[in-house]
Amino acid sequence: MKIFEEYTLGGKTLKNRVVMAPMTRNRADASGVLPDYAAEYYRQRAGAGLIISEATQPSAGGKGYKGTPGMHTNDQQSVWSRIADRVHEDGGLMYCQLMHTGRIGHTSFFPKEWSLLAPSAIPAQMNVSDAEGNDVPAEVPVAASRKQIQEIIDDFASAAQRAVAAGLDGVEVHGANGYLLHQFLSYGTNLRTDEYGGSAAGRAKFVVDLVTEMACRIGPEKIGLRLSPGGQFNDMQKLDDDETYLHLVKELRPIGISYLHVLRRRSTPLHVKLHEGWGTGFIMNTGYMGPSELTELNALVESDEADLISVGRNFISNPDLVARWKSGIPLSPWNEDTFYVGEEKGLIDYPAATSK
Ligand SMILES: Cc1cc2nc3c(=O)[nH]c(=O)nc-3n(C[C@H](O)[C@H](O)[C@H](O)COP(=O)(O)O)c2cc1C
Repeated sequence: MKIFEEYTLGGKTLKNRVVMAPMTRNRADASGVLPDYAAEYYRQRAGAGLIISEATQPSAGGKGYKGTPGMHTNDQQSVWSRIADRVHEDGGLMYCQLMHTGRIGHTSFFPKEWSLLAPSAIPAQMNVSDAEGNDVPAEVPVAASRKQIQEIIDDFASAAQRAVAAGLDGVEVHGANGYLLHQFLSYGTNLRTDEYGGSAAGRAKFVVDLVTEMACRIGPEKIGLRLSPGGQFNDMQKLDDDETYLHLVKELRPIGISYLHVLRRRSTPLHVKLHEGWGTGFIMNTGYMGPSELTELNALVESDEADLISVGRNFISNPDLVARWKSGIPLSPWNEDTFYVGEEKGLIDYPAATSK
């Protein structure tokens, strides 16, 4: 099956085309430091062609959930280093997903000098989680000044440098699911009239500037980007336009980053156009409502709809997912109750069914 064949991304050879999708597991402490057992969690899943880590804040001000890890202090970086070592020892490759939650965050997460930043002062019409874990109405964010935009770009680039220094193979920029970058891309959340809004090129500019700066610091071949055009999660209400995404891909392609990772809840002509505009290094996540069976996912690779497929929840409950698929061993079901709580439970206690 083509899905089990090698693939080269950013100069590194992935042993198969099954990518572990980024999944927040909320086990970090209040300082954003992951527990040591997180290294065992990721090591167990090193059979994936590539592991993409749980979403990780590039700065204190990017945090929007209790228990998410950071990539902006030495203590945080030390654990990432141990994680990278364990994954590499077992023959895996790993990128760290960097996420700034923008208006989906809450001021209770960060010290007073940080503001809740977004492209425009438009609150999400939903409840968010505060630092105590309570459900509270989303706050009105502050429209980021140009200086603050530059600071966020610098934070992402510095976090990318830390990730590489920790020994990780690269970083995935989280431009999906209604968080800060997606908020810049969408016309419903970006009402700016400066160069970071107002047109398709303006809405795409923040992501382009951010990726460009990161590429200067760590090299384009160590950067991936996740997008979810048309996704409604986090009150985005499908407020995306094809023009912005096509413009974004046109601007990014020459930079030479390693991949584009697209969430495709349903197939739309835009996904096909994005793939055409992008070329090779196209990861697809069929997410929740799409196919999750091996034969269906392999068909997407065989038909060149995607070069690689990312899989989320099946990797939670099947650490040796690829080996099971290869041997035809039935998959274990996941338990949603321990997605975000339970410390080691639900994280490292799903047994492997194969010896590899
Ligand atoms: C527990 C959980 C946490 C998630 N956290 C993230 C995240 O941190 N970043 C992200 O981009 N997507 C996140 N997602 C979405 C997954 O990457 C993936 O798109 C989704 O699970 C659908 O794929 P699946 O049907 O194979 O599970 C999360 C999903 C789950 C179930």
